[in-house]
Amino acid sequence: MDSVQQSSPPAPSFWIGSVPVYGDVILAPMDGFSDWPYRSICRALGSAMSFTEFMRAEFVVQAFEHVAARFFFREEERPVAFQIYGDDPDEILAAALRVQEKRPDVIDINMGCPARKIAHAGAGVGLMRTPLKIARIFRRLSAVLQVPVTGKIRLGWENCRNYKLVARIIAENGGAAITVHGRTREQGYGGQADWDAIAEVRALVSIPVIGNGDVSSVADIERMKNYTGCQAVMIGRGAIGHPWIFARRERESIPLAEVWEMMRLHLQRNMEFYGPRKGYGLFRKHANRYLLLQNLPRQRRIQLLTQPDASGFLALLDETFAELETRLGV
Ligand SMILES: Cc1cc2nc3c(=O)[nH]c(=O)nc-3n(C[C@H](O)[C@H](O)[C@H](O)COP(=O)(O)O)c2cc1C
Repeated sequence: MDSVQQSSPPAPSFWIGSVPVYGDVILAPMDGFSDWPYRSICRALGSAMSFTEFMRAEFVVQAFEHVAARFFFREEERPVAFQIYGDDPDEILAAALRVQEKRPDVIDINMGCPARKIAHAGAGVGLMRTPLKIARIFRRLSAVLQVPVTGKIRLGWENCRNYKLVARIIAENGGAAITVHGRTREQGYGGQADWDAIAEVRALVSIPVIGNGDVSSVADIERMKNYTGCQAVMIGRGAIGHPWIFARRERESIPLAEVWEMMRLHLQRNMEFYGPRKGYGLFRKHANRYLLLQNLPRQRRIQLLTQPDASGFLALLDETFAELETRLGV
């Protein structure tokens, strides 16, 4: 008898339309942070899929060559969701068709950005003030596109917390999943995310719900999942400087040497992707977070972050970590 047992492939955690997703923790789209270098690092560590930073539909339509880098990904990162935003259904459709040529797995519509310039112009969370427009957008996109369409929402605008209406509209007009950030526009990124609202959406619609807001530890991942019943948890700020959260490893458990190695890898990937100068420049805000989590004296952190180039930064980084290791006796 054959003693070799055939192991069956793992079952997907959930599906976005026809796209299987393996895993239940996802890096949030974050303008200025979740670029390709960081997305690829988080995906390799366990983020179940990748969302690109948002991009304005108008820019996609008018000058795709200039913004194409935002949508870069490698095959091993699939599933990849491209996120776009806008206020005009025709323009959003045109942009979606344009980005679809780059073969994403999913196209996601941002309905959560609270920035005044965007929201007051009727895009981002401003779109939640025009639910009928959302219906039109999802109906048309889901009919025309070859990939599933998803939406990322907040709870609403000011006192009009119409997230349940909007969630139903998305689900009933062909949307394949919804991410709910449990805050209103007014709250920005302050206050506490309302997980009860995420649970309400989960109970209301039959498409997958990705819960988002205030998950900053491994324990929080389980807490949000249990509390809301959501299919997956999306992590934004809690993942900056701590990509290991996707491997379900708490901050305190990461050895110093691993932090040091990760910073070098992240910087190197940034420089490959953007070129040395820009890559180093953009890396510094990530470096700030890696270093903050190591509780370095402020002066040393500033000294590191004000190094004029990557080689100066890396030399001082080596010195700093050697000192820390000696102090900690590791
Ligand atoms: C710097 C920054 C940039 C962001 N950019 C985007 C974006 O491009 N698209 C989007 O849908 N949400 C964006 N967000 C919102 C996050 O995806 C997420 O909904 C929010 O940070 C709440 O999750 P958290 O509590 O885990 O950070 C951004 C948030 C931050 C802090």
